[in-house]
Amino acid sequence: MATNEVRQPEIRVLPMPSDTNASGDIFGGWLMSQVDIAGSISAHRYVGNRVVTVAVDEFLFLKPVLVGDLVSIYADIAHIGNTSIRISLIVMAERERGTDTAQKVAEAVLTYVSVDENKKPKAIQKSDLTCK
Ligand SMILES: CC(C)(COP(=O)(O)OP(=O)(O)OC[C@H]1O[C@@H](n2cnc3c(N)ncnc32)[C@H](O)[C@@H]1OP(=O)(O)O)[C@@H](O)C(=O)NCCC(=O)NCCS
Repeated sequence: MATNEVRQPEIRVLPMPSDTNASGDIFGGWLMSQVDIAGSISAHRYVGNRVVTVAVDEFLFLKPVLVGDLVSIYADIAHIGNTSIRISLIVMAERERGTDTAQKVAEAVLTYVSVDENKKPKAIQKSDLTCK
């Protein structure tokens, strides 16, 4: 990526009141689901066929996410195996939109497996592309 390019998130999403837990913060499971979606998009882009999540290697909730935060999830390829691909993800939340004050609220590492039409592991064709 050229140094003057602005990095694009894999997804951006706005949590709604229906995504909160009993204390009014965004439910951790909601965030995990969004991270899984973002990671799968990144893995699929590299692999070029269907992927399934095999492992959540790491998931850290660093700060609470609130209703109305603009949540952006950034993905990087951390490792490419024979049939698996590990994706490292960072979740940023912007509370006062337009003020450039996004904070890191979570980070995670998930592993996906490339699968064929029978849902069996399928070898990944490695290319020079190691990030989007
Ligand atoms: C993912 C799945 C196809 C793997 O099948 P499997 O027969 O266990 O495959 P293998 O043992 O050959 O492992 C395949 C790859 O996954 C990796 N893998 C397996 N278990 C893993 C784990 N716990 N953590 C990290 N990687 C793992 C292996 O190291 C291997 O990677 P490599 O080929 O790059 O070396 C199978 O476990 C499955 O269908 N799981 C359910 C997936 C799912 O429903 N996910 C949620 C919805 S998307």
